[in-house]
Amino acid sequence: MSVRPILRMGHPVLRRRADPVGDPTRPEIAALVEDMVETMQAAHGRGIAAPQIGVSLRLVVFHAPLGDENARGIEDAPLTVLADPVIEVLDPVMESDWEGCLSVPGMAGVVPRARAIRYRGLDLSGQRVERVAHGFHARVVQHECDHLDGILYPQRMADIGTLRFLDDESFED
Ligand code: NI
Repeated sequence: MSVRPILRMGHPVLRRRADPVGDPTRPEIAALVEDMVETMQAAHGRGIAAPQIGVSLRLVVFHAPLGDENARGIEDAPLTVLADPVIEVLDPVMESDWEGCLSVPGMAGVVPRARAIRYRGLDLSGQRVERVAHGFHARVVQHECDHLDGILYPQRMADIGTLRFLDDESFED
């Protein structure tokens, strides 16, 4: 296991459509997921996609634990591994909220996302995972799965003018 470098916005691997995982029970996939989890936790992220550490596979890891110090009424999503995820929008009404990304360090922006989705994928044992997600949980999954299609959150922003630096304390929201 190791903490891997996180690719930043502009890297070509972040812009391409990732390849299917296929069989997620292969040992190299388990090793990759260990690195993804360790890298995500070291960077205090809530999710990471394999392309962010330079592996162009359709594989994401995320969690949104209750009691998080930055929580804003979020719903619980346990640490989840999803291979070859598919998202179905259940409620197309868009909700806007702040997002950040480990590949866009030090910044945040307001991003509209569908407020309710169903997602499906495979876990590391090859079992099907299927969940309905609302709110923050739905937002994290949409954000991570976008990475698999080469999309970073600024490309989803309705108003790029809300993009800001997190360390700028010279003004009030
Ligand atoms: Ni991200």
